[in-house]
Amino acid sequence: MIYACAMKEIKTKFDILNTEFSLQYHRNPINSIQTRLKSTASIVEKLAKLHQSVDIEHIDEHIHDIAGVRVICSYIDDVYLVAEALLKQDDITLVTRKDYIAQPKENGYRSLHLIVKVPVFLSERRLEMEVEVQLRTIAMDFWASLEHQLHYKSIGNKKVSSALTEELKHCADSIYEIDERMQDMFNQINEL
Ligand code: GTP
Ligand code: MG
Repeated sequence: MIYACAMKEIKTKFDILNTEFSLQYHRNPINSIQTRLKSTASIVEKLAKLHQSVDIEHIDEHIHDIAGVRVICSYIDDVYLVAEALLKQDDITLVTRKDYIAQPKENGYRSLHLIVKVPVFLSERRLEMEVEVQLRTIAMDFWASLEHQLHYKSIGNKKVSSALTEELKHCADSIYEIDERMQDMFNQINEL
């Protein structure tokens, strides 16, 4: 329940930033926001993978993505704009930042990943809860969604997997090139 509240807090912060932007600049840097809570089954499965027994301490120590918020932005620069606007807020603490846009994963995956802490106020206490935030462009999200599906479908089929790996990487790079071209056009239009 507390993780669900932390997730709502973060989502609201992004909703507010998007509203402020659309009033001030007449455009939305955020295209959409998705949230998800990790199921109990997935938590148990992840602990097993990490060879940890199921108890609260191990969950706190090893699992940082119980609450997840995915922010899909229009342009590459919007990803950083929105991320910095969140991190500037004085109730937010940055735990980790992984920039898979500057340094994509070997398979071509791109996104900016943040683990942040946000306070959740209950009647008697204030708890600092961790939330995983993934920020990416529409194009990066398109690739990540399909890669996830293809990967899932090809498990157990090694031949398909190895042939797909290279093609997927090529697609990721082509998609990123398009992202950069769209960003360029946006910049040119805004200079006019
Ligand atoms: P997990 O233990 O899987 O959470 O990974 P991690 O602790 O090494 O963190 P990382 O930042 O690498 O990835 C966290 C999340 O990013 C994953 O749970 C996915 O939602 C997403 N992600 C990371 N790599 C990929 C990828 O190659 N493809 C897709 N589709 N999603 C990815
Ligand atoms: Mg995860």
